[in-house]
Amino acid sequence: MLIDLRSDTVTKPSKAMLEAMMMAPVGDDVFGEDPTVHALEEKTAAMFGMPAGLFCPSGTMTNQIAVKAHTQPLDELICDKICHIYNYEAGGWAFHSGISIRLTEGERGKMTVPQIEELILPDFDWLPNTRMVALENTVNKGGGSVYTIAEMRAISDFCRERKLLIHLDGARIFNALTALGKRPTDMHGMFDSISVCISKGLGAPVGSVLLGGKDFIKKSRKIRKVMGGGMRQSGLLAAACIYALDNNIQYLKADHQKAKQLAKALETCQWVKRVLPVETNIVIFEVGDSAKISLALAEKGIRTSPFSPTLVRMVTHLDISDEMVGNTIAVLNNFTA
Ligand SMILES: Cc1ncc(COP(=O)(O)O)c(C=O)c1O
Repeated sequence: MLIDLRSDTVTKPSKAMLEAMMMAPVGDDVFGEDPTVHALEEKTAAMFGMPAGLFCPSGTMTNQIAVKAHTQPLDELICDKICHIYNYEAGGWAFHSGISIRLTEGERGKMTVPQIEELILPDFDWLPNTRMVALENTVNKGGGSVYTIAEMRAISDFCRERKLLIHLDGARIFNALTALGKRPTDMHGMFDSISVCISKGLGAPVGSVLLGGKDFIKKSRKIRKVMGGGMRQSGLLAAACIYALDNNIQYLKADHQKAKQLAKALETCQWVKRVLPVETNIVIFEVGDSAKISLALAEKGIRTSPFSPTLVRMVTHLDISDEMVGNTIAVLNNFTA
């Protein structure tokens, strides 16, 4: 049995999801005529109490569109040094938007108000214009660390006070809300834009929704087009996302429990130096040589991601059963590095 713990993006659509996709009414969404895409955009916006939504092929695109729509060249974005926008989107902020970035060094990727305040630049000709702040919740590279509602609120209030735009990379926002026992509307009014990925823990094959004000989304639609993200009968994909929102949020809690079980087993392994605290579905642990360990585990049927020269990541998701967790723990217990 191959157990794929590399990422929560590896899930395959279930039979019921495929059926929902096949039944979806579709149209040409570049002409704004796909009823299922409209339904997904409206549904996601309503869930978060935001005015409008835009369906995009990926979370990278929703993040990069948000950065582009909120900024102009000579502007600067404040985010954390381990965040996805800075590290894993191929430098799109420079490529698409011509902006610079200033980095906080938060605890497991979580920024604080004083850290942000310190990075705001004065209005001099020789400095870029501090324009926006981007948070990630959960923080992928922080091991799925979670900003509480109060922590997000404090940063949002501060950004409003200092007239900074604020974006949330909510690739795993439903994991964060599940861990907190909160609803999307508990974040109401905090963000100028939110990227919600439905192709991660929620199990859709493709798709992220960018949320924001009506004018912001109108502008974002044009940016999506110039990035090549205008899609035609994309209702087929939107139907999978609607299915995921309706049916799969409930399973995130079990994913989190499975991640905790894996972490507990790893903590007893002699070849593991340290396990980062587990709050959601991501387990990051430190070893001597991550590439070597990852390869050796793959030979035993357990796929993981080397996340740095010494860090390995495991992610639980919809396609990881209790039996797979049990098998993984058995392999870990008998493993010698
Ligand atoms: C925190 C975070 N943001 C954004 C993305 C980008 O999503 P995509 O792979 O759909 O481009 C990812 C992908 O894993 C992510 O972990």
